[in-house]
Amino acid sequence: MKQFILSLGGSMVNPEEIDTEFIDSFMEILKELNPERLGIVVGGGMTARKYVNSLKKYTNNNFFLDELGIRATRMNASILLGAMGLKQERIPENIVDALEILNRSNLVVMGGTVPGHTTDTVSMLLAESSGIKDVINITSVDGVYSDDPRKNKDAERYSKLTYDEAFNISLKSYSGAGSNQFLDSVSLLIGKRAALNIHVISGKNLENIEKCLSGKKYEGTLISQI
Ligand code: UTP
Repeated sequence: MKQFILSLGGSMVNPEEIDTEFIDSFMEILKELNPERLGIVVGGGMTARKYVNSLKKYTNNNFFLDELGIRATRMNASILLGAMGLKQERIPENIVDALEILNRSNLVVMGGTVPGHTTDTVSMLLAESSGIKDVINITSVDGVYSDDPRKNKDAERYSKLTYDEAFNISLKSYSGAGSNQFLDSVSLLIGKRAALNIHVISGKNLENIEKCLSGKKYEGTLISQI
């Protein structure tokens, strides 16, 4: 697997503060793998959560809450861009601009685009538009569970799911801007129509990330066509 889109969860980059230790280790893995083409889409993490929750005191207009979340994703993406040596002049704000950068330099780093979804959907659209087939969702949970494993200790982890199965699990946990879903539902529709391989893995296990990115057997959940 030498071409992939990484959906880097804000919970890894920015759990409470910006985790530069994680970012540095992650950069080492990427340097070693030296992928042919790489897109990195960064989530909003704690910054998004703090700002969105504060604004929620004054409005329940999800469009504006999403707009604020998007700004947080772009701030985190800027940190990643810095860690990669500022190899691109700006954070693209839409898929067409991101694709242009990817086609030119085989690398693009970005955050969110428009309200109504999360950076998961941005990752799938970037994969679909670029023809890259593998999306790796790096998050704080080690796969997709039947229920929230932090709240329900009997929750079962799936090693494989179809898009429809994953869609139904995702839809159950939707609650507007800042929802706590493993992947947002729209992203799974894009994944299905583009027949993407979506790998959901934990960012806490660096060895496992390396295995997944090298196409080896890894711990996590694969969402794909049967
Ligand atoms: P994230 O992609 O980080 O979503 O965007 P998330 O699921 O809350 O967080 P993690 O990173 O997976 O833990 C943060 C928020 O920004 C808005 C949404 O409100 C989202 O919840 N957003 C993000 C958009 O509206 N559009 C985008 O393209 C990206």
